[in-house]
Amino acid sequence: MKIDILTIFPEMFDGFLNTSIIKRAIQQKFVNIEIHDIRKYSKDPHKRVDDYSFGGGHGMVLMPQPIFDAVDDLKKENTKVILMTPQGIPYKQKMAYDLSLEKHIIIICGHYEGFDERIRSLADIEISIGDYVLTGGELASMVVTDSVVRLIDGVIEKESHINDSFNNNLLDYPVYTKPVNFRGMKVPDVLLSGHHANIKKFREDEAYKKTKERRPDLLEDGGRNE
Ligand code: ADE
Repeated sequence: MKIDILTIFPEMFDGFLNTSIIKRAIQQKFVNIEIHDIRKYSKDPHKRVDDYSFGGGHGMVLMPQPIFDAVDDLKKENTKVILMTPQGIPYKQKMAYDLSLEKHIIIICGHYEGFDERIRSLADIEISIGDYVLTGGELASMVVTDSVVRLIDGVIEKESHINDSFNNNLLDYPVYTKPVNFRGMKVPDVLLSGHHANIKKFREDEAYKKTKERRPDLLEDGGRNE
């Protein structure tokens, strides 16, 4: 998979691309992620990428020209173009799964003060990562990239994400490691029993209980097969 990210703050991605699972996925060529500075595509003599809002209003607005030129340059036949904006579709695990099957994604990072409305016409999907406003789409694009890359076949063991929270509309079951007794808090006996069927049942029950307590809305979408 190839992911091209268009941003006015390319330096924000340094740590993200050079750490942990994302770094390894790039090294092992499961994904190729390129960060593109929108400024490079600006035809303005001063390389400006934003300007005042017609009709007045606070703040600068991202201009269409550099972003249209960047997308023209990078887009191929089967490219999905994503625009990060708080006005987009709420991002969910299902969308991460769908995107992990794509060959090529371009992600456009919006700007907190706004982008020219015509930029929307470039996007196949507009995505919001939640009902709050970030200073720009960069962190949001990293959230989407991270959640997609870990689902690409081979990046992590399948078992690691088969039980992820939100799979089957359930939150994840609780997990424990050593020591068995920490400050009086004990690991549930069943997990030490070696009885696989009982462990499986315990985990299913706990996932269901936790979801019912914390996110009953997820169960309304289907829940476990009963
Ligand atoms: N840009 C600013 N806030 C955002 C959000 N909540 N989701 C996606 N992109 C954004």
